[in-house]
Amino acid sequence: MKGVIIGGGIIGMSIARELHKEGVAVAVVEKNKVGRGASWTAGGMLAPQAEGLEPGTFLDFCLESRDMYEGFVRSLEKDIDMNVGYWKCGIFCPAFSEEEEKELKSKLETYINIGLTGEWVDRKELENRYPSLGREVVGGVLYPDDAQVDNRLVMLALEKYAKFRGIELLEFTEVKRVLIEKGKFKGVETSKGVVEGDFGIITAGAWSERFIKAHIFPIKGEMAAVDVFPEDIDRVFFGSKAYLIPRKDYKRLVIGATEEMVNFDEGNTVRGILQLLGGAVETLPHLKDRKLQEVWYGYRPATPDLLPVLGRTDFENLYIASGHYRNGILLAPITARLMTELILKGVESRYLQEFSINRFRKE
Ligand code: FAD
Ligand code: GLY
Repeated sequence: MKGVIIGGGIIGMSIARELHKEGVAVAVVEKNKVGRGASWTAGGMLAPQAEGLEPGTFLDFCLESRDMYEGFVRSLEKDIDMNVGYWKCGIFCPAFSEEEEKELKSKLETYINIGLTGEWVDRKELENRYPSLGREVVGGVLYPDDAQVDNRLVMLALEKYAKFRGIELLEFTEVKRVLIEKGKFKGVETSKGVVEGDFGIITAGAWSERFIKAHIFPIKGEMAAVDVFPEDIDRVFFGSKAYLIPRKDYKRLVIGATEEMVNFDEGNTVRGILQLLGGAVETLPHLKDRKLQEVWYGYRPATPDLLPVLGRTDFENLYIASGHYRNGILLAPITARLMTELILKGVESRYLQEFSINRFRKE
């Protein structure tokens, strides 16, 4: 049995690895180099609580994936002998006003009521640890179970796994269309010829709409990175203006992110970078003396209800795993597991039912 995966981001590559571990032959067809789409440009936060997700199926889905993460990275690291920067550093959400304090405390209470962890931290306590704390910060909520991973290292690791373990990687090969015969997946027509397979999975991120009748669209995010020292910041700060992600083993602070509905507009904007650097300096003013390392941008794959699209399509043996929007790095382990169980054993978990493409037909 052979699977054809359309798009080599974290979703496609994680599914490819999971299928390969189950003994299935897999080809990943990627129009660029694998792992250079949204998955490269992301922050790598594993942050269902800091993102403020409402209690319900999607939060459960994200929490399960957060629980799976350490196992996912340790197994990947063992496979390819490389560290991918998983760090259960906790995520701190600063409040910049009394109104934000009220909102954050109310969300914290919601989470405590459903058995999750978190605590309010007063400004005084914060000042002891962060002497240069921004004047407007009145306190904040710490979520100790939220974490981070270095998403670029994860992508390099998944690429290395694929190359050394025999997953077929067809890079710089654009899928032009999906080939369907008698209602059944047959293969894909690419810029370099036809690739046949017994099943196909659309994992083309923000570009997925090209292959399926579902509204999947890009929400652009601009990012920046600056020099940082371990004494500056020791966990992720997730503020309303910017989030700050210190990488563990090297002097890099990743700062994100804007949300822009501008289709596939390219390049960083002055407005975007001002927002990010302004937010960073309002949080920790001494960062204004740090050197700028890089600016970049990417496209979150979004859907009308901002939930993923997972599972079967109208065509036999053609599947989709896309629309992960702000949480695709977090959701890679659970997506790979559920898609593999669906394809190999026909198991339809409650999540796949909830996130089925069929939900858009009711509208
Ligand atoms: P991608 O990584 O975009 O992969 C899709 C691939 O398909 C691309 O490589 C593309 O080249 C390829 N492709 C497209 N069309 C074709 C074609 N015709 N033929 C062949 N290949 C094709 N998530 C988190 O969990 N935590 C975060 O902190 C976080 N921060 C983010 C910050 C920003 C600025 C952005 C933009 C996103 C962030 N996300 C975060 C979201 C996360 O990055 C995405 O949800 C996730 O990367 C989606 O993965 P993917 O594999 O579906 O898409
Ligand atoms: N999850 C962070 C972002 O999408 O910007």
